[in-house]
Amino acid sequence: MPFFSENTTDRPIGHPLVDWFIKNRRILPWRTNPSIYNRLVSEFMLQQTQVATVVPYFKRWIEQFPSIEALAGASEEQVLKAWEGLGYYSRVRNLHKTAKKIVAQQTNSINSKHFIFPKTPKEWKQLPGIGDYTAHALASIAQNQCIAAIDGNVIRVLCRIHAIQRPFESKNQAAKYVKNIAHSHIPPDESVNYNEAIMELGALICKPQKPSCNRCPIGSHCRSFQEKLDCSQIPKFKKNTYIKKIIRRIFIRNEQSIILKHTHTNRLHNIFELPLCEDISGKIPNQKINEKILYREIAKINRSIAHERITEIILEPKHLPKDFESLPKDNPELMLLPIYELPNITLSGPHRKWLDKQLFACP
Ligand code: ADE
Repeated sequence: MPFFSENTTDRPIGHPLVDWFIKNRRILPWRTNPSIYNRLVSEFMLQQTQVATVVPYFKRWIEQFPSIEALAGASEEQVLKAWEGLGYYSRVRNLHKTAKKIVAQQTNSINSKHFIFPKTPKEWKQLPGIGDYTAHALASIAQNQCIAAIDGNVIRVLCRIHAIQRPFESKNQAAKYVKNIAHSHIPPDESVNYNEAIMELGALICKPQKPSCNRCPIGSHCRSFQEKLDCSQIPKFKKNTYIKKIIRRIFIRNEQSIILKHTHTNRLHNIFELPLCEDISGKIPNQKINEKILYREIAKINRSIAHERITEIILEPKHLPKDFESLPKDNPELMLLPIYELPNITLSGPHRKWLDKQLFACP
């Protein structure tokens, strides 16, 4: 149950936060030119990616697709290529579909074209790829409505300010919990600055580990700071429950061609990946010792998605297997691609990096 510390009149953070933001914000291209289209593109890019990674992609994107109309008119190959390296490709496919839907509803007046953008979070959520957070971010930051957008940074800042220490099942549950608190902090007519300010504070000062409390503009309103609580434990999430191991393989023939998997699922349509080991051999190796002898481990990454903790291992065979001359017939997704074609295809997530490193010794 909310405690008295969640009473926002006790902790009026809105104005000091906005004042701090105006003086300290990062100059970002979607802030310098905050059109609804620019905000739409940046919010899609920022959904699972850090600001520093997004900036160069965003600048190139706006050069290539300067308007919603240009984006709607582009081919799927063009947009996938422009997104390559940002990962989570369903985002770009949804952004493309959203642009097409908005442009399809355009009305032509004599001198100009007007695009009808949704006006409320509920309307934004009708469009592909726009969930609760993005809908609220667009209505507030792009359209200046008095609405709170709640991402991971906002959850962290508010849980610390109000010393909310209950464990959450998920980010969604935490977002619902802090929604009213977030809304009640918005100063009148300052929705754009307030929403960006609280995200910015989370990104620059109130970081997950080692927050810079001595530089915090709202330290005097922060209950965790005043009570010297261990902030690295706030907010609390229940532990991930599933552990998954993915083993992929790089097979290169005569230094000329490579086996890749060409996927057509919703998530990865028209994207190439390194094949999983069970794609090639039909089974997952479980004898660690054999693996070590026959394969060299060239990359290992750990990541978490929702409740899954995933370890992904990339192996390269030391000797080519006997059956490598022909591709397994029972997996139509596998193909042998000439290496010179690699720059022209879209590779999923970190696969481009692994291949560049392996084939072209790029760091
Ligand atoms: N993350 C999501 N939206 C953002 C924005 N507008 N500025 C900085 N970080 C963000």
